[in-house]
Amino acid sequence: MLSIAASKSDHGARVTEFLPALQDALKETPSDAVALEIGNREGGSAILILWHLHQEGRGRLLVTVDVDNPAPDALKTLAEEWSSPWTPPWESYTMKQRDFVEKVSHRFRFGFIYLDADHSVETVTQDMRALAGNMVVGGRLVVDDVQDWPELPDLFDVDLERVTYEVDQGDQMVSKPHGQHAVFYRKI
Ligand SMILES: C[S@@+](CC[C@H](N)C(=O)[O-])C[C@H]1O[C@@H](n2cnc3c(N)ncnc32)[C@H](O)[C@@H]1O
Repeated sequence: MLSIAASKSDHGARVTEFLPALQDALKETPSDAVALEIGNREGGSAILILWHLHQEGRGRLLVTVDVDNPAPDALKTLAEEWSSPWTPPWESYTMKQRDFVEKVSHRFRFGFIYLDADHSVETVTQDMRALAGNMVVGGRLVVDDVQDWPELPDLFDVDLERVTYEVDQGDQMVSKPHGQHAVFYRKI
């Protein structure tokens, strides 16, 4: 399953970088708190998230959002192959991150959020602030591809504290402003 996820992800073997945060989120939030991925592309990371929701076995909803790629067929095929009954429900939205945040996100309470779509520091920070209002305590928010951000934002004013995980950030991070490829927050 890991190799399938890696083959479908542009992150290759580093597709697992968000897993410690996902595992903590599943432990610390109730199962009605939704998992959200924005930027699913071919479904590499979404496969991993779905697998963990399946293992959790409590019917936690996965929501995926992508401007171009509707729910990938690879995910549907895997869902059928995995042991039945296939429990985690899953909703897919084909729309821009900004539109999802503004028009749809208020319908959910989030326990885990993985942002891997829009990568500009201004819009992503704005969206993190908006999404924080719909997160439950103990939820985790992960943002990928932040290596070129001049600094990692402090978001204490919206009850998000930065947390660190021992994950492979990639060798090329050494020369970057803060040395992080992905950044992690916990809702307090
Ligand atoms: C880096 S890829 C995601 C890779 C995926 N998470 C994985 O690990 O396999 C980025 C995806 O975000 C989508 N995307 C880019 N900008 C977006 C935006 N503003 N709103 C929604 N989706 C966007 C692209 O269509 C693309 O599928």
